[in-house]
Amino acid sequence: MNVIEYLNSRFGFTRRHRSVFDRSAPSGVNYFFCLGGITFTLFLAQVTTGLLLAMSYIPSEAEAYQSIQQLHASGSGLMLRSFHHWAANLMVVTIILHMMRVFVTGSYKSPRELNWLAGAMLLLLTLGFGFTGYLLPWDQKAYWATVVGTNMLASVPLVGPGLAALFKGGSDVSGQTLVRFYSIHALWLPLLTAFFLWIHFHVLRRVGISRSL
Ligand code: HEM
Ligand code: HEM
Repeated sequence: MNVIEYLNSRFGFTRRHRSVFDRSAPSGVNYFFCLGGITFTLFLAQVTTGLLLAMSYIPSEAEAYQSIQQLHASGSGLMLRSFHHWAANLMVVTIILHMMRVFVTGSYKSPRELNWLAGAMLLLLTLGFGFTGYLLPWDQKAYWATVVGTNMLASVPLVGPGLAALFKGGSDVSGQTLVRFYSIHALWLPLLTAFFLWIHFHVLRRVGISRSL
């Protein structure tokens, strides 16, 4: 018995793999139906590059900027960071195109309304990733963009000022904000995204994809 067969006899992953992947593509789909999968692939790329960046990034007021400069000193560090930066932008583009496809084909209607709602949460979470990630380089552009963004949040009636103070960890954007944004970016948002992705895919597999183009 070779290693693969042994592992298979214990985990039974061939059967699991078949039930997840070995399904024929429905007829009537076209390339626009790939946009959700492309968004998912980009998310996985972000998790991978993000985890690697987290191995050298230091989320502290005194060292964040320097830790990024140090990353730039090596070619691979610069490439890693550029990848995370561009894939983040591309993910926002593909998620919006995916949403437009779903809207145009009317695929948000029952029984897929829960998919649309989970998708709306995924959109908010993705924008949250972009907003919190933007502060992490801790340069002038990052700082002032966050001052503007959190001031906009503070202008929301009733809950705005409280929410802004919660995210900033005080009345101003400071080192405390950097730590909060980092924990939101690298812990809270990935966990919440995994949860809503699970809902998104679970419902999708139960009701099947619409084929209305
Ligand atoms: C991280 C973000 C997202 C990922 C990874 C994702 C992934 C996917 C995938 C792989 C599919 C299968 C069909 C396809 O690829 O077109 C799908 C379907 C669907 N998605 Fe998303 N999605 C995301 C965000 C959204 C958003 C923002 C919305 C809308 C607000 C949405 C609504 C839907 C709906 C309604 C379907 C069912 C479509 C059908 O059956 O034709 N998704 N999603
Ligand atoms: C587990 C998932 C993730 C981890 C651990 C992670 C980690 C990091 C780290 C350590 C940085 C600071 C390094 C730098 O600024 O270059 C960063 C920056 C950033 N992240 Fe993430 N990230 C994750 C997912 C995402 C996702 C899904 C997005 C997509 C919207 C995203 C968007 C950004 C942006 C826009 C920046 C600023 C990039 C720049 O400086 O130009 N991240 N991330």
